[in-house]
Amino acid sequence: MRIVLFAGKGGVGKTSIAAATGVACAQKGLKTLIMSLDTAHSLVDSFDLDRTLMDRNKGKPIRVANKLSIQEVDAQEEIKKNWGEVHKYIGSLLNISGIDEVLAEELAILPGMEEVSSLLYINRYVAQKRYDVILLDCAPTGESIRFISIPTSLEWYMKKLFDVERRIVKIARPIAKKLYDVPLPEDEYFATIQRLFNRLEGIDRILSDPTITTVRMITNPEKIVLKETQRAYMYFSLYKMCVDAVVINRILPEAVDDGFFTKWKETQDLYIKKTEQLFSPIPILKVPMLSDQVVGMTELSKLAKEIYGGLNPEQILYAETPYAFRKVEEDYFLDIKIPFLTKKEVELSKCNEELIVRIGGFKRHVLLPRNIATRKPSGAKIESDKIVIKFGGNHGF
Ligand SMILES: Nc1ncnc2c1ncn2[C@@H]1O[C@H](COP(=O)(O)OP(=O)(O)O)[C@@H](O)[C@H]1O
Ligand SMILES: [Mg+2]
Repeated sequence: MRIVLFAGKGGVGKTSIAAATGVACAQKGLKTLIMSLDTAHSLVDSFDLDRTLMDRNKGKPIRVANKLSIQEVDAQEEIKKNWGEVHKYIGSLLNISGIDEVLAEELAILPGMEEVSSLLYINRYVAQKRYDVILLDCAPTGESIRFISIPTSLEWYMKKLFDVERRIVKIARPIAKKLYDVPLPEDEYFATIQRLFNRLEGIDRILSDPTITTVRMITNPEKIVLKETQRAYMYFSLYKMCVDAVVINRILPEAVDDGFFTKWKETQDLYIKKTEQLFSPIPILKVPMLSDQVVGMTELSKLAKEIYGGLNPEQILYAETPYAFRKVEEDYFLDIKIPFLTKKEVELSKCNEELIVRIGGFKRHVLLPRNIATRKPSGAKIESDKIVIKFGGNHGF
């Protein structure tokens, strides 16, 4: 069983690369599902299928080739099904505040509900062992980060708030009914949340198990895209997910010698080098710009060959997680794994959200997650094959 997330900035080629990977896996005889997590679904278009096919199918998987299915989750449908009472309650609140009923229903979709719907599917497919490979075509960076943060935040909510809230509402309901127009949620509201939470049991372990789930970061050789890739990479590390490849897509082929592209080619060369410096030893897969847009099985199959060459697309391409964030009491720690460390002097400097770590000739730029970026690094030490950097308090090690 394998799960691969394809993540990156909008327009870099996530859908095309996820689709191409699916085609390649299915051709090898693996039972494969490509699931779109982007509400602006485009898998159907990538396979050049008629959209009404998917609409009629109400967001269930559809078979597109031997061993290959695609699924574009229908958010409205799933929310009605899974969130029933919660959706109704929030809708009624909005409606009371004077918002039109149709709009209220639309607005009552809270951030996270759609992601939970996809997580429920994934959890079910894994439990049923229904596919050998599940490929997730992610939404642009920000939202996919939210997607992976949901199991953790939901667990926090259930542990810390849920029971308290349920008890308070139980006591307050009879009084509140007399005082306010705003209804408090009924028991069924809480029961719905509890049921959903139970059905998500185990999904966090699946997503953070590097023998099952890995992330492939898709990027283009350009400054702004690379910056976002770096940031996303650190967030995935924060959630302990293993990035097993970085795919640089849309590289202008050698054969392009039109003067118009001279500057573009220099820029691309520069950012390909930077990407290699930033992400090594994670495998970097270079993919050329094809002569036309990538639509349909034949083109997708061609793209897959460009991406993987002789590699197995379903394989775990890199199993290490070079960065790990930890919190011990009030302090945060960042562990960076670096094999063959000999020099013992670590030099740290920080510029805004970027931490620069220098050990002899080795230099690494680390883009810090927001809550850690506000702190000063207060020390670093070397432990066998890793550097441990401490953030927090006023004391070093
Ligand atoms: N290597 C490539 N060569 C040519 N066209 C590409 C390549 N990769 C992606 N495209 C095209 O770029 C557009 C955007 O790609 P898409 O996969 O939808 O990106 P994303 O899912 O990241 O938004 C599509 O029209 C796709 O066919
Ligand atoms: Mg897409």
